[in-house]
Amino acid sequence: MSRSAEELVAAIRERAGAEPVRLGLVLGSGLGHLVDAVEGVATDYADLPGFPHAGVSGHKAKLVIGQLEGVRVAVFGGREHYYENGRSDAMRLPLEVLKALGAEGLILTNAAGSLDPANPPGALMMLSDHIDFSGRNPLIGEPSEARFVPMTEAHDPKMRAALRSAALSEGVDLAEGVYAWFSGPSFETPAEIRAARILGADAVGMSTVPEVILARFLGLNVAAISVITNMAAGMSDEKLSHEHTKAMAPLGAGKLERVLRRYLRDLD
Ligand code: HPA
Repeated sequence: MSRSAEELVAAIRERAGAEPVRLGLVLGSGLGHLVDAVEGVATDYADLPGFPHAGVSGHKAKLVIGQLEGVRVAVFGGREHYYENGRSDAMRLPLEVLKALGAEGLILTNAAGSLDPANPPGALMMLSDHIDFSGRNPLIGEPSEARFVPMTEAHDPKMRAALRSAALSEGVDLAEGVYAWFSGPSFETPAEIRAARILGADAVGMSTVPEVILARFLGLNVAAISVITNMAAGMSDEKLSHEHTKAMAPLGAGKLERVLRRYLRDLD
């Protein structure tokens, strides 16, 4: 663990208690309201040196540690994206802190564009796998041998099975598919979307993949769920914008919250 992570962990434990955290949750654009549902101690990212500035609107830049459905969780109300400052490892410190707080697992959420007409806006898609179209691996420059992280079952089969059954119990449709990471911040072109489709993508977005890589590097089990906010570029007449993403996220956010709460309640 880096020195800065160690110091942060000590400071966080002092405020939020030393009891280990079981699970981390990263909330995507327009999905931040869960930070307010946790009964616990909130700390603004601004008070956690090295944490992202989370300058993207639609993100609540705070870390909350406490109970959700009887499980001790660390909820990250926002993330830094590669496109903000050109750092694909911007979430490394927060995830190091999560690991050091005792977490075994991490659930990532995001807003994404769909390439599959069967998953329209409002649908939920769990990531079965991903494609790094940005080429910006967050472990570039990491000196240790641990950087050669196997990514064969990066999206944890056990967590995915539990999320699938949580969705089933809640009567929520949870699609599964491949998420392709484009760097952003511009949206994709229709030609890029057609290419991504041919190459096997079901959804596209500007986040999550570097966090999955970092989580596996740190030994956290990880699963991710996209809330589909739009059909990808060229697939509908909708005009894509961040405003549109934020406006559409609530369509799926309620279902996502039910799935996550059920997942936590059913954890053994
Ligand atoms: N592309 C990339 N990121 C996104 C999209 C999209 O269509 N929708 C929401 N986030």
